[in-house]
Amino acid sequence: MRIDILTLFPNMFSGPFDESIVKRAIDNNIVSIVLHNLRDWGLGKHKMVDDYPFGGGSGMVMKTEPIFEAVEAIKAQGGDSSAPVILLTPQGRVFNQKIAAELANFGRLIFICGHYEGVDERIREHMATDEISIGDYVLTGGELAAMVVIDAVVRQLPGVLGSEESASDESHTTGLLEYPQYTRPQTYRNWEVPQVLISGNHAQIAKWRREQSILRTFVRRPDLLEKANLSAEERKLVANRAVTRFD
Ligand code: ADE
Repeated sequence: MRIDILTLFPNMFSGPFDESIVKRAIDNNIVSIVLHNLRDWGLGKHKMVDDYPFGGGSGMVMKTEPIFEAVEAIKAQGGDSSAPVILLTPQGRVFNQKIAAELANFGRLIFICGHYEGVDERIREHMATDEISIGDYVLTGGELAAMVVIDAVVRQLPGVLGSEESASDESHTTGLLEYPQYTRPQTYRNWEVPQVLISGNHAQIAKWRREQSILRTFVRRPDLLEKANLSAEERKLVANRAVTRFD
């Protein structure tokens, strides 16, 4: 996968992409991440990228021309010119694991990081093919949002996670929150690891984990449980707990 990022602050990306799993994916040529400084397409000798809003009001609006010309130039560099052009904005569809999986299917993604009071509406209408928000709060710009989206997408690409880091059981992949995890020591300050996990009985362990996943989702995220694929017996387990709600 090739990921192009159009930003006024390319240096912001150096920390997150230089460590851990994303770095390994880059080093293994599974993904290439290309940063483009929007300022390079700025207008005039001051390389202007923003301007006052028509109609008045506070703040600045990102101009149309630098973003259009930048995206066109990036596409002309080669690669898949039908790649999604994703604008990060608090007005976009709210990002989740399903969208991460959807984006992981593309060979190329182009991200536009908005700033200031927003971007000229014509970028939304005629350039962006998708708009993504990472949650109902306002960041200072789209950069952190792009990092979040890219991190979640890259770890979905085949070959990025080793088998010991498998994503199959983790929260949101199954539609449920993940079961509690423990590692050594078996006892810490009198706090014991649940007995079933050291029983060696794999069927019992699987059953316990599944129940814990369901109950944890019920307590913390009942909204997810409504959409989850539960058996009749599992639904009954939840119904019983609903009477004596636990924490
Ligand atoms: N830019 C500012 N806030 C944002 C958010 N919540 N998601 C995506 N981009 C943003």
